[in-house]
Amino acid sequence: MAKAKSVFFCKECGYESAKWLGQCPGCRAWNSFTEEPVIQTKQKSSILAAAGASKPLPLNEVSSDKEERTLIGIKEFDRVLGGGIVKGSLVLVGGDPGIGKSTLLLQMCREISTRHKVFYISGEESAQQIKMRADRLGKFSGEVLLLSETNLDQIEQTLEQEKPEIVIIDSIQTMYREEVGAAPGSVSQVRESTASLMRLAKVKEISIFIVGHVTKEGTVAGPRMLEHMVDTVLYFEGDNSAAYRILRAVKNRFGSTNEIGVFEMSGTGLKEVANPSEYMLEGRPEEEPGSVITTVMEGTRPILVEVQALVCQTNFNMPRRTAAGVDYNRVNLLMAVMEKRLGISMAGCDAYVNVAGGMRISEPGIDLAIVLALLSSYRNKAVDSRTIAFGEIGLTGEVRSVSMLSQRVKEAEKLGYEVCIVPRARSARIPEESPRKIKLVEVGNIRELAALL
Ligand code: TYD
Ligand code: MG
Repeated sequence: MAKAKSVFFCKECGYESAKWLGQCPGCRAWNSFTEEPVIQTKQKSSILAAAGASKPLPLNEVSSDKEERTLIGIKEFDRVLGGGIVKGSLVLVGGDPGIGKSTLLLQMCREISTRHKVFYISGEESAQQIKMRADRLGKFSGEVLLLSETNLDQIEQTLEQEKPEIVIIDSIQTMYREEVGAAPGSVSQVRESTASLMRLAKVKEISIFIVGHVTKEGTVAGPRMLEHMVDTVLYFEGDNSAAYRILRAVKNRFGSTNEIGVFEMSGTGLKEVANPSEYMLEGRPEEEPGSVITTVMEGTRPILVEVQALVCQTNFNMPRRTAAGVDYNRVNLLMAVMEKRLGISMAGCDAYVNVAGGMRISEPGIDLAIVLALLSSYRNKAVDSRTIAFGEIGLTGEVRSVSMLSQRVKEAEKLGYEVCIVPRARSARIPEESPRKIKLVEVGNIRELAALL
């Protein structure tokens, strides 16, 4: 039988099929298959085998030297990477167009080029355009080598000759290999390009950063499998309207995930925000009903955010409920718990819940603040502005403990809060540090919480 000349790929997850399919069996996306030519890659051996690791080795004899790291000098970035750039690692930086990926990486080049040989390869901008951006960022004292090229075979050759230590590829969707027949940005091109960059990183011990665009569904364009191939995946996110940006690690073979770095976009590039709590709380209302401050954990960092709620008489047959920054279903659930356990009726009320500053929060520790904000707005009674609250709420209205209690309390104390509403369940665990200025108020269920207001 003659070999098929082309195959179909799912644009979302990279699922491969011999024929076109309406729905992808892998990720259930509809109408996501595209036809692409088959590629016969000569090199079938694995990436690590290419790095000379194909012989079996007893685990005890494998040298466990700590991986070599280079600090960038941008603290927020270093932390997200788990303490600097690991030699020979492949890092994917994803994000919406215009969010500042190229700016961030160029700033990284600026910091690091005084100590290391850096290559910035762009398939999107000409050298002049990059220079113009660099001028906005300030003086470059080190040497950054620019290359406007999209042919990966060429790039590979240049890198082998020049032997840089750190390479930026902006972006993976513009790169292509000639032996792959498909257009740049297609699933097979992205996959092959990433595989050859991975090989290069491991064999030549170059640290490579690749920029990846994000689709409107919010994944790195082209395949999800891109995320499986690389060592580290960072997402650069933020509201286009707000100036702050969050760099988030969603996968890291060399460090913890869920670490975040906070930046602010200014006229002269990205500035680090060392104290995000103060930044998030800027301009918040004092002594207004419906506003409650809470601490959420972003990785190992406590951040204070403001939860706002507005409960008002509805003008619709079906009351409106919206939630921005928190899970909509969670808000509905918490309102149901409030109705049942507090005996109040909000059936005739619209309810809007919002996390100020545009943060998206998925941890349950925010429950208590949501309930308190809703209640405060419903009763039109303000929560004292020097009070913070956190805890998870269960279906019977019990307030449950959350992780890292003492860090949360400490952060609130640091920022001058006076009262902290905490779950009774575990508050004994908070080490008594003398002298504590903040007053802890324990609550066991939402009736006790309601009584505080
Ligand atoms: P850019 O890094 O080009 O985004 P990406 O590579 O993720 O597509 O981001 C550019 C945006 O940032 C652009 O809209 C202009 C803005 N910007 C500033 O506000 N200040 C600056 O100093 C720079 C360099 C860019
Ligand atoms: Mg760019």
